Amino acid sequence: MVCVIIAAAGQGKRMGSAINKVLLPLAGKSVLAHTVQAVCQAEAVTSIVVTAAIEEVERTSEQLASLKLAVPWQVVPGGSERQYSIVNALKVVAPTAKIVVVHDGARPLAQTSLFNQVIAVAREERAAIAGVPVKDTIKIADPSGWVTDTPDRHTLWSVQTPQAFERELLLTAYEQAMQEGYLGTDDASLVERLGIKVKVVPGNYQNIKITTPEDLQFAETVLGERQEARSM
Ligand code: CTP
Ligand code: MG
Repeated sequence: MVCVIIAAAGQGKRMGSAINKVLLPLAGKSVLAHTVQAVCQAEAVTSIVVTAAIEEVERTSEQLASLKLAVPWQVVPGGSERQYSIVNALKVVAPTAKIVVVHDGARPLAQTSLFNQVIAVAREERAAIAGVPVKDTIKIADPSGWVTDTPDRHTLWSVQTPQAFERELLLTAYEQAMQEGYLGTDDASLVERLGIKVKVVPGNYQNIKITTPEDLQFAETVLGERQEARSM
């Protein structure tokens, strides 16, 4: 059994729109609807849990109901930080789920094949995350902007979601992080703190996180191209 947690309880501040970015329209449906449908098309997925801001739980539930999803789903209220939203979601994940996948609701371009891949690698290796090699040279600089180091680009990955883990491992990682007051910027960082190795699965540069208005335009174009390719 595989449960996918979809984080959608943010505010989308950087989008600067009146409503949460995941509820904004994109190619005929909401951003979140695209994300959820891609997740549910992955064969291994047996349930989903969506986190929504407390005031958006009802609206999100209505949207999900209208999608007539083939897998059971539930909506849980999120927290003030993404990590706290995931904690709330983990509380309702069925113990029968061997693998738990965490995915951003704001990544509507993640394809079903990517879910299949990270799930398959997590079954073998316990922890697998989607990422792409960085294209730019990355510098480390001090607060005044003086460069202190240039890490070897060939070792650097820009990491995305989906991120898939053995359920027990992810639960332990979250328990420990919460006990120690550690706030990570992704789920894998919590698992890495346990000394567990995490495997990067090469993903797709198109799998962006919708953050600012230009991202919606890009997503609109990509989805249009995919639609065209399917109808050829
Ligand atoms: N998220 C969440 N709970 C939070 C914060 C974020 O579930 N307390 C979700 C968002 O809805 C999003 C994903 O985590 O799908 C990635 O976060 P981010 O891109 O930062 O989204 P927002 O926090 O909504 O955007 P911003 O930071 O611009 O306010
Ligand atoms: Mg945020």
